Amino acid sequence: MKLRVAILTLFPRMVEGPLGESILGKAREKGLLETRIVDIRDFAEGKHRVTDDVPYGGGAGMVMKPEPLVSAIESTREELKTARVILLSPQGARFDQAKAEELSRIEELILVCGRYEGVDERVRGYVDEELSIGDFVLTGGEFAALAVVDAVTRLVPGVLGNEQSSLTESFTGGPILEGPQYTRPSEFRGKAVPEALLSGDHARIARWRRRQALVRTRERRPDLFARLSLTKEDEKLLAEDDGRLDGARIFVDH
Ligand SMILES: C[S@@+](CC[C@H](N)C(=O)[O-])C[C@H]1O[C@@H](n2cnc3c(N)ncnc32)[C@H](O)[C@@H]1O
Repeated sequence: MKLRVAILTLFPRMVEGPLGESILGKAREKGLLETRIVDIRDFAEGKHRVTDDVPYGGGAGMVMKPEPLVSAIESTREELKTARVILLSPQGARFDQAKAEELSRIEELILVCGRYEGVDERVRGYVDEELSIGDFVLTGGEFAALAVVDAVTRLVPGVLGNEQSSLTESFTGGPILEGPQYTRPSEFRGKAVPEALLSGDHARIARWRRRQALVRTRERRPDLFARLSLTKEDEKLLAEDDGRLDGARIFVDH
């Protein structure tokens, strides 16, 4: 499967760089991700190609005009015929891992970036949904669009070298955070790697990891923990003496 994404923006250079780096760049090289950056200004009319105007009724700032935006959406839709059109907006539904998984099963996406005080309300009639990346206000939708592309692309089969790694991550397979991770050296400035991880006993390591994930989620995100359906084994793990699993103490915040 290949993901084809178009990003509609007034600032193409803001998105060009990140799309060529690291995992996204490699996904493009492997032909698993195809990106196109559409400059909304190319669809503005007149000598000055104006894309924004003052708000009706007065008030601060400028509003993105509907004509260039809608023309850009319609033109891109002619190429990406099955695309879902998403407007990035602080007023949209919250983007999360479940939404990333849903979008990773769609082959074509058109991401529309607002700027200034936002877009003319009538543009909303030409998009399929609105997504927000959090309850804060960015100066434009570009970073939000990149966050969506990044989170979705890494779920496309073949993009991550090791498919297992995306299965054990936070928010995957339930509302739970991943537990602590360690790499070499086995001791760093007096802090040792938990003994369970060095044991070579796969079942013990899996139990240790599950317990750490449960404890970490309970500590840091009680809202997620409350939504978690604990299995009998989870309850047993949570009740277990830490010493039986890691030989010393619970590693929650290290
Ligand atoms: C300054 S914001 C406009 C905010 C708008 N006046 C409001 O109060 O809802 C400009 C653009 O940035 C993008 N943006 C800002 N915050 C965002 C967020 N949390 N998630 C997604 N996009 C966001 C949107 O595309 C938006 O049109």
